[in-house]
Amino acid sequence: MRSGPDRTAEARSILRDNDRGTYTVPTAGLYPFQWNWDSLFAALGWAQFDMARAWTEIETLFKAQWPSGMVPHIVFWSEAASYFPGPDVWRAGRVSPPSSGISQPPVAATVVRRLAEIDRLPPRSLYESIERWHRWWHRARDPEGRGVIAVSHPWESGRDNLPDWDRSLYRVAPTPNGGYARRDLDHVEPAMRPHKTDYDRYLALIEHGVSTGWDDDAVARHCPFWVADPGVTAVLLRAERDLAWLGESLGADTGDVRRRIDRIETGFEQFWSEAAGTYCSLDLRTGEHAEAGTSASFLAPYAGIDRHADRLLEELNAWSEACAYLVPSFDPRHRDFEPVRYWRGPVWCMVNYMISTGLAELGQPDWAERLRADTAALITASGIPESFDPMTGGPVGGSNFTWTAALWLAWASKPHNPDNDSR
Ligand code: DGY
Repeated sequence: MRSGPDRTAEARSILRDNDRGTYTVPTAGLYPFQWNWDSLFAALGWAQFDMARAWTEIETLFKAQWPSGMVPHIVFWSEAASYFPGPDVWRAGRVSPPSSGISQPPVAATVVRRLAEIDRLPPRSLYESIERWHRWWHRARDPEGRGVIAVSHPWESGRDNLPDWDRSLYRVAPTPNGGYARRDLDHVEPAMRPHKTDYDRYLALIEHGVSTGWDDDAVARHCPFWVADPGVTAVLLRAERDLAWLGESLGADTGDVRRRIDRIETGFEQFWSEAAGTYCSLDLRTGEHAEAGTSASFLAPYAGIDRHADRLLEELNAWSEACAYLVPSFDPRHRDFEPVRYWRGPVWCMVNYMISTGLAELGQPDWAERLRADTAALITASGIPESFDPMTGGPVGGSNFTWTAALWLAWASKPHNPDNDSR
């Protein structure tokens, strides 16, 4: 009998190949620098076989933290011509190393808590750096204290070209400098990537940030794209709870963390759209909800919110009938669903991991296990790419992808054990 591919050996060698010594690139060529949440998920993978390397990954990322507390979404530790837009476009160079001028979903506290549970508590200095980052999110991206967190660029959500952003993004005037050369299309088929009309606006938003000198107050007041994201908000709420756990374990005063938790826990309800029957992003300039749910809608339980749990489970069930593999990044019944176009349909392992964790904690072990099993089936059949087609299970985007490898090692390869649901 032929045995199947050894995905565990493959996943380890992908991490090693993508290792640049102190950080791991998401994949060579397409993403040749340190990306914020990719790197943190990489740490979960490293923790399965090289704990020291896992801690180094996180320490490296926080070396790029800005004086404001912001931790950038890309850190340009070295030069690479295979990516656009590079540091010369971001012009966020008043701090060293050069970086982008926006952030990404803050999974650090949650990853560090996981590492602490399997290894040791982090140094107090790392706890404080994460605390400063969380404070930055509230101050810079929720300056009115509404309890919902805005993103100032679709890339800040980590879920770049979601149909959610379309309406808000297409109100942004495109860059007048349209003659730039994209590099992503050298690595991945155009059908799997955002359109040029999206890129024209991504660049306009970078130019807007540059024009403010990446000043948080100016961005909050004037950025033409200012949309509260249930994804970032759920990730932050979860991370705040994990930060409180870390702080209490280290003997820190967690009063501020607790107050922030209360604020977002209450604020999260603003994402609920009765029209869509799920949590949707909310354009804070116009007050409009997006039309449909995304995979981030199912992150509410991960954030510890069980308010509309029955409705969410009904919705997940409906999605499961509309596609072969859960969880597509966008509602598979909607006209804008595109199964292979980046965040308009494909399944992403680390999102499945977070949703599954929340479902297990909600007391839904069967759904939690369904997501793990779907993820394992996708990787077993299609290897370790960036994401997967929810209809056919085929590979999508870049290949030899760090976070898919990491989540295979840390989660998808391990059948669910209800005894592990202690938190
Ligand atoms: C890209 O360049 O596609 C990235 O997703 C931005 O973070």
